[in-house]
Formats: sequence, C-alpha cells, structure tokens
Amino acid sequence: MKNSIYAFAILLLFSQCSANKKSVIQDPAYGLKDYYKNYFTIGVAVSATSLKNKNASLILNEFNSLTAENSMKMGPIHPAENVYNWKDADTIVAFAKNNNFKIRGHNLCWHQQTPKWLFIDSLGKQVSKEILLARLKKHIFDVVGRYKGQIYAWDVVNEAISDAPNEYLRNSEWYQIAGEEYIAKAFQYAHEADPDALLFYNDYNEISATKRAKIIQLITNLKKQGVPIHGVGLQGHWAVNEPSYGQLDSTLSDFSKLDLVIQITELDISVYPKEHTAREGQAIDTATSFSKEKEIKQSAVYKYCFELFRKYKKSINSVTFWNISDEHSWLDNFPVRNRKDYPLLFDTFNNRKSAYWQVAKW
Ligand code: GLA
Repeated sequence: MKNSIYAFAILLLFSQCSANKKSVIQDPAYGLKDYYKNYFTIGVAVSATSLKNKNASLILNEFNSLTAENSMKMGPIHPAENVYNWKDADTIVAFAKNNNFKIRGHNLCWHQQTPKWLFIDSLGKQVSKEILLARLKKHIFDVVGRYKGQIYAWDVVNEAISDAPNEYLRNSEWYQIAGEEYIAKAFQYAHEADPDALLFYNDYNEISATKRAKIIQLITNLKKQGVPIHGVGLQGHWAVNEPSYGQLDSTLSDFSKLDLVIQITELDISVYPKEHTAREGQAIDTATSFSKEKEIKQSAVYKYCFELFRKYKKSINSVTFWNISDEHSWLDNFPVRNRKDYPLLFDTFNNRKSAYWQVAKW
C-alpha cells in the first residue's frame, strides 16, 4: 500500500513537471533568451529602424542583447573628422536601456566601412603613423566615452588577420601606416576610455585551422605584452556544408585554451555551400527557394552548432545572430549578388523555422 502511494506521488510529480515544461515550451512569449537563460545571452544585429517596425516585438520576445549592424562602425558614425552621426546608435542604446538588453559595441577599428579622411591629410597625402594613431585614439575616446557604462563589450579590432595562407596580418591601410602596433594601441585606448568594458578581437573563418592559428598567435602576443584583451569574437558566418561537427569542436576547444571569454558574434548559416569571394549570379544560381532539402540541412547544422556551444558553455557566454529574420540578410547579396538566402531562425514573415526548434529544444 505504502509503495503504491509513493509510486502514485512520483507519477503525479512527474506528470506535473512535464506539463509545466510543455506549457512553457508552447508559450509563444517564451523566446530564445529564455531557453538559454542558464547558458548565454542571445543577441541580434539591428538597425535603428528595425526597432520601430514590426520586428520590435520579435526582438523583445526572443533576444536580450543587441549589436548595431552598421550604426557604430567608423564610417557611419564618424564620416568626417569633426562630424559624428550619433542618432542611430543613440536610438539602439536607448532601446536596449529601456528594455534591459545588453549591448555589444561593434566596432572600433576595421579595414572596411572606414572613412577615407582618417588616412589622408588636407592635401590628400597619406598621414603619418602618429597622426593616424592620434585620430584612432580620439575616435575611440569619443565613441566609447559616449556610451561608457552602457556598452558592456566592444569589438575593438575587427578582421586584422589575413586570409592569405602565407600572410599573417591583413595589409590594410591601418597596417601600412602604423604597422602591427595599431592593434595593441586600439585596445589600450578602449581600455582607457572605459576600464569596465570587455574588449574583444573579432574575426571570421575562425574554423579554418590556418586562420585560427594566426588569430591565436595574435591574441597570445597581445596577452604577453599585457594588452587589455578579454575575449575573442568568433563571427560564425557559416553554411550548410561548414563547419562540420568535428571542425567546430576543435575550433571551440582551441579557443577555449586561450583562457578568454568566447562570444559568437555574427551567427548565420547560409543554405548554400560556402563561397568566400563575391561574384555575379550565374545560371546555376536560380534554385533560390527555401526547399525542404535546404530546411533539413540547415536545421541539422544549427542543431549541432548549439549542441557544441552548450558543450563549451564555460567559455562561451553570448551568441549573437547577424540580422533578425530571413526577410533581410546581408547574405541576400553576398557572395552571390541578388541571390536570396535564408540563414536565420525566423522566416521571411518572422515565423519560427524548424531550425529554431532544433536550437530551442534539446
Ligand atoms: C563582417 C563585419 C560585420 C558585417 C558583416 C557583413 O562580418 O564584422 O560588421 O559587416 O561582415 O554584414
């Protein structure tokens, strides 16, 4: 008798637990940020406009961290020496503050979307290293200073490593004028401007063993020199054919040995096999519908990516998606111009895709 009462009580408890779990999972207000509350903050790259249109409710429901897709980059925010466009960045920061979101700042020093004035004098001649570093310092102090205490993490240097197998650092204008030192300087300036902000080196194609070794070399050197660097940002612009489970596992394992925070900063998974360089569309590029086959492949990759993120949760504390839904992605134009892609967890109408459930339920 006693035994059957125990058995009944256990059964009752179990059925209540699973009922609770079910109702939570079915609750449409329960979003990615809730599924992952014991793992990572879940971020999304946005524009100021997207916070005011129909995307706002999806953003509020699913995410708890924001990155400005473009508004904080050097070109858009600081187009001329004495001109700053604060409006869009301010809108994003205000939205985040009002809704208790975290903000990742992106980015302070990059070779693209960088205004020309930085590198030349009034006669159009290339500036000296001293002038370039002084301009970088002023830019960082102004931008980081404005959002001090509000932006908890900054991508300080973006994509400084070369993709060429035999070249270490990218031969950018930063490098040509200031040499390798511009990287350490950018971190020092950012740390002076906001000593509490977490500072990241951010790059793509980190899953390539060759490029990864160079990123790790750079970070190790910076740490040896005592440069204030706290994290590595893995962009994660991936595709249905890469990374494989094993490739991502070894990527995360290698970076976790650096003893820094890892953040996945720009996640999307293209439904097309990865291509690294831009090109025009060709006849073979006409199969652009989101077919069942694409859906299945993409869901499988999303599933094991998050499985691995969870495996490395000691090192990873944030995952940010690059764009909100398949309605708009930078991949609609890259690498193949005008080819529609479907790289995110929400479809073109903001509905959750099957990949969403592979990520949310485990
Ligand atoms: C890189 C940059 C991002 C963005 C993407 C493409 O990954 O870091 O800011 O420009 O390219 O959208």
